Amino acid sequence: MNVRKKNKPSPHLGRKTNLVREREIEYTISTKEYEIGLGKIIKGDCLDVLKTLSSNDFILAFTSPPYLNAINYDDHVEKVKGKIQRWERKEISYDDYRLFLVERFKELLAVIKPGGYNVVNISPVGWNGERTALPFHFVSWMESIGWKFKEDIIWEKSIARDKRSGVLLQHPYPGYYYPSLVAEYVLVFQKPAEGKNKTNIYWNRSQREKDENKINLNDYQGEKSKNVWKIRPVAPQENVHPCPFPIELAERVIQFYSYKGDKVIDIFAGSGQTNIAGERLERYHVGIETQDEYVRYALERLKAVATQEKLFK
Ligand SMILES: C[S@@+](CC[C@H](N)C(=O)[O-])C[C@H]1O[C@@H](n2cnc3c(N)ncnc32)[C@H](O)[C@@H]1O
Repeated sequence: MNVRKKNKPSPHLGRKTNLVREREIEYTISTKEYEIGLGKIIKGDCLDVLKTLSSNDFILAFTSPPYLNAINYDDHVEKVKGKIQRWERKEISYDDYRLFLVERFKELLAVIKPGGYNVVNISPVGWNGERTALPFHFVSWMESIGWKFKEDIIWEKSIARDKRSGVLLQHPYPGYYYPSLVAEYVLVFQKPAEGKNKTNIYWNRSQREKDENKINLNDYQGEKSKNVWKIRPVAPQENVHPCPFPIELAERVIQFYSYKGDKVIDIFAGSGQTNIAGERLERYHVGIETQDEYVRYALERLKAVATQEKLFK
């Protein structure tokens, strides 16, 4: 463990002291940073890591937060290593979960440029036997800490993994309707800004930059122009992580909300899907993740992508 005091950056983060945000904090931090391709993966709790990053530095964040009661990532990693057969759920109250998210998204707000975006993939989750309206609560939690709500996009997964709809087949009567779940939310927030940045932070990009980042409209009149995106989910055998989002989802978000060379961050990086999309689309990308095993896996895959990208340039 590496104990840091007020504003002193950790040596392996290699950051300039004057760029570290001024704040009266004293905390224990244990992080490791791995540079790869155009970006990096930092192993650590994003709450600690974000405090070491410069203010107003990133233009876009994309993430999907952990469902701390539903997936025990410590146990999942042990299972991947063959050390245990199955994982147990963690006992965490909904209010503690709210605090966990609010603390971290508040720190995220500080590192995003005014006018920059925070895109979050989130869906309702079961808590104590009840289905909670997590995405809807999440919007008001984010608004309470200063994020401005912009868009609600539904990611429609072609395949349902649950058997909920089967209940009505067995009991074809009112009151037995439990639709299979194929929708997740992709909620877009913006950091408040003044002037022209308020409506579009990219208003002052040069024509050359615009031309280089022009969005291909050939396939735009289909589903991309609407707020329901149909994207195939990642199959369990395609990724070691228990709940990755598709690279295609990250690519869409990155293309709609950033330019080449911009800085993109994923504070709960998991298997590094945002980093991979960022690398492919020539963004500077930072992922933060607590689990060594996922960091290792993300780095392995990123290395392959970075090498391939270099070969084709
Ligand atoms: C829903 S998963 C993200 C999956 C990722 N989008 C992907 O496609 O692989 C959430 C991740 O957050 C990580 N995590 C949990 N608490 C964290 C924290 N405090 N700081 C950073 N990462 C954390 C978990 O280990 C898990 O990998």
